[in-house]
Amino acid sequence: MAGPQQQVLPLGQSQVSDIYANWMSMPLMREYYGGSNFFNVGLWAEGTASQAEASLRLMDRLLALLPENPARVLDVACGLGGTTRYLAERLPSASITAVDVNAGPLAAAREAAPGNGFARVNATALAFQPDSFDAIVSVEAAFHFNTRAEFVRQAFRALRPGGRLVLSDMLFGPQIKLWRLGVPVANDVASLEDYAGLYRQAGFEIVELADVAAESWQVFVPAMRSYVAAKRAAGELAAMLAGAVDNLMTADLAHYAVLAARKP
Ligand SMILES: C[S@@+](CC[C@H](N)C(=O)[O-])C[C@H]1O[C@@H](n2cnc3c(N)ncnc32)[C@H](O)[C@@H]1O
Repeated sequence: MAGPQQQVLPLGQSQVSDIYANWMSMPLMREYYGGSNFFNVGLWAEGTASQAEASLRLMDRLLALLPENPARVLDVACGLGGTTRYLAERLPSASITAVDVNAGPLAAAREAAPGNGFARVNATALAFQPDSFDAIVSVEAAFHFNTRAEFVRQAFRALRPGGRLVLSDMLFGPQIKLWRLGVPVANDVASLEDYAGLYRQAGFEIVELADVAAESWQVFVPAMRSYVAAKRAAGELAAMLAGAVDNLMTADLAHYAVLAARKP
């Protein structure tokens, strides 16, 4: 039993990773995402009917920021492969490589988007030759990287001149709480302007930086909450898990950034 002198030890990076991978593969979550293999908050508009549709809209927004007809695209933190499959379908003549640090989701991604290159790689150790890609895409994951700044430097190196880094990313406020476990302190940024500075410091020019929190996180949270409440009411979800999801939804999200940065 927890006593006053017992300490709550911080979870290690690999434990956080395992918990993440478990969440992603939970049938409940797979069902919420409608079998789309996405695992992100998506981009919602009036009439967006499902999470899978919102996740597709987010990809449409990012695709529009890619350079024209990229021949070589890297999908960093591909998760279950929904993003990779989308890129492969929309860019049929491109060679797509996808990486993730988690073996479980990566195996699902291989199945979801066969014919593309997959590797278990940490986003902060992108051991690709310089100028290997025309575009690097990363959907809703850079806040996890230890550190985001190191990833941005490595992405810059791996891109060709004129190539683009296109991503969506979450910026948390001081009340980050539970999400702190999966977000290194080094990734805290005080403002969207400081966030842009991170990319400029690595050598990038900012092509676009928008805060879409009102169309993403702020619509996703009530959607996820009502899904979980319905599952709980139907007796399909244990109270503890429902509580855990609810806790995650209280994260202090300051900005949801959509960014396109160009290597000069
Ligand atoms: C919110 S999910 C997004 C997955 C996918 N991009 C999507 O939109 O469906 C975040 C992903 O980041 C991955 N991830 C976290 N830290 C990572 C790292 N250091 N290197 C590579 N992938 C990482 C996780 O394994 C997870 O698949």
